[in-house]
Amino acid sequence: MSIPVAKQYILDFEQMGLGMFIHWGLYSQLGRGEWVFNLEHYNMDEYKKLADTFTAEDFDAEKIVRTAKEAGFKYITFTTRHHEGFSLYDTCGLSDFDAVHTPAGRDLIREFVDACNKYGLMPMFYHTTLDWYNKDFNEKFDEYLEYLRKSVEILCKNYGKIGGLWFDGNWSKPDSDWKVDELYATIRKYQPEAMIINNTGLSDRGKIGNPEIDSVTFEQGIPTPMNREGMSKYVSAEMCHTLNEHWGIGYDDLCYKSPTELIKSLCDCRKVGANYLLNIGPEAQGKINNYQKELLGLLGRWMELFGEAIYNGRPCGVNGIGKNFALKSVDGENLYFFVYDLATRGDGNVTVGRKYRGVYAFGGVSEEITSIKWMDNNEELPFVQGQDMLAVNLTGHPYGTSYPVRVAKATIK
Ligand code: GLC
Repeated sequence: MSIPVAKQYILDFEQMGLGMFIHWGLYSQLGRGEWVFNLEHYNMDEYKKLADTFTAEDFDAEKIVRTAKEAGFKYITFTTRHHEGFSLYDTCGLSDFDAVHTPAGRDLIREFVDACNKYGLMPMFYHTTLDWYNKDFNEKFDEYLEYLRKSVEILCKNYGKIGGLWFDGNWSKPDSDWKVDELYATIRKYQPEAMIINNTGLSDRGKIGNPEIDSVTFEQGIPTPMNREGMSKYVSAEMCHTLNEHWGIGYDDLCYKSPTELIKSLCDCRKVGANYLLNIGPEAQGKINNYQKELLGLLGRWMELFGEAIYNGRPCGVNGIGKNFALKSVDGENLYFFVYDLATRGDGNVTVGRKYRGVYAFGGVSEEITSIKWMDNNEELPFVQGQDMLAVNLTGHPYGTSYPVRVAKATIK
């Protein structure tokens, strides 16, 4: 059995490696996550009043896109409409429950797309398929599906080229006919090269559904290698994570991840060729709080040093001790060795201890290597090569630096 040849737009998506997820909607004003309507049993007549106080006065799309770009993100997946049913885009008369009918009075998705285009990031649209606002969802499902299809048509027609659609909610009615063929055909008509992704949820991570699907999802998961042998089409993989424990802002959610965790998760993803889609939750009127910005800033510092390996590296079956592994560059000229938990050099009594340094082996290296250097300071690493095996002296961090994962770049003869 063979592995199917990937379409170019799917490869391009894979090579972006790191995406920013943004969850923002009316719920952000309550600051208790995006499921607050459902979990706190709100009445929709009450809940929808949040539209009257939605000004979006702090939403600065260019600023967000610049923050993303500086941190090394290549694409942004933005909630154009979440389960609450409120659209951040101009629904062109389909519904009054959208941003242009609030005090904001703006098409926020237009601003987002314009900013992405200005700074060269790929805009992607998250769109809910389940809907708490539209009564047809429960009462006249077929009419609801037509509303959904028309909504998506607007997004595909009115914003120029987009990177893809990221659907979420089919898991809410697993036994219904969602008529996805019609929905996906609408996308293909206007955006033949858009990634079509449909979140399979927490219980079905990595599952492939309809043949139009271009990438599987690993919501809040640990990415596992994809076995593509015998598949009818090459699909990519993407893992999405929250920055704390909610997608929409939780003002009292203090469980933020550390930069160490973010960097390691990103590397874990790339080890199996998956993208890392990392979420932020803007505040009520669109501001990103300092803590989230700072976290992204530290991730960005790491990406500045090692980003090349993230974008350019593909799985090649090389593994080392612990979680260590290597990726091969797309052009086949380099290997990138990812080293987790490297210790700092010097007197162990004064260096705060992390695991190890010294000579360690990597298995599965069949290429002849001419040199290996740490990517951050270009220090040459001594190595010896045997059959399918490479032993490298992982010399340790210079005192004053410490990276959760440090990457060495090798040149292939
Ligand atoms: C879940 C949640 C949703 C969130 C999504 C992101 O399916 O329902 O709130 O947007 O995951 O992956």
